Amino acid sequence: MDRTSERTREIDAAVADIRVIEQHDGVTRESLDKIKQRLIALAARPDLFTVADFPPPEKGGKRFSCLYRISEDADHRFALYANSALGGHGTPAHNHTTWAVIVGVTGEELNRFYDRTSEGGVREKGQSLVRQGSGVAFMPDDLHSIHMDAPLLNFHMYGLALEQLHRREFYRAAENKWDIFPPHSDIREARAGRA
Ligand SMILES: [Fe+2]
Repeated sequence: MDRTSERTREIDAAVADIRVIEQHDGVTRESLDKIKQRLIALAARPDLFTVADFPPPEKGGKRFSCLYRISEDADHRFALYANSALGGHGTPAHNHTTWAVIVGVTGEELNRFYDRTSEGGVREKGQSLVRQGSGVAFMPDDLHSIHMDAPLLNFHMYGLALEQLHRREFYRAAENKWDIFPPHSDIREARAGRA
């Protein structure tokens, strides 16, 4: 079997298991932990998910990372992306309005976790380094920010595809106000037979 076919088989098997987990257990911290473990198992094949397969953007351009769609159901549920980043960037604190799981393939991504404060801001409550063998999981209202120093490749999976998420909030620290992320406009199609 060639690498592309093997990659497709492994992705399809993981997503099939994840559909079953959500169907049986619903969306809870426990079920998201099971989904995370299943994605960690998928990520344990870095030979199938290389930067040659999923190149980061050109250095010096406007983008710091490329998001590749590697699975998504016809109804836009269970969207799985490979994120290939150059590093040297981060995001503000934000929510997802659907469940979200990130696991590492290569490189390291720092995740910071936040609570909302009564003054309308955020307070950091912890952090976790996502790398090969680890991951983080978020309920729809949970807040995090991500920080990347060096090149990395990781998986981001969402209960619903990013283009369908129109109310994702992020915190503008300098202005102490919340705003809505614009719809993601540059997701690359990387599903077998669809690119
Ligand atoms: Fe996020």
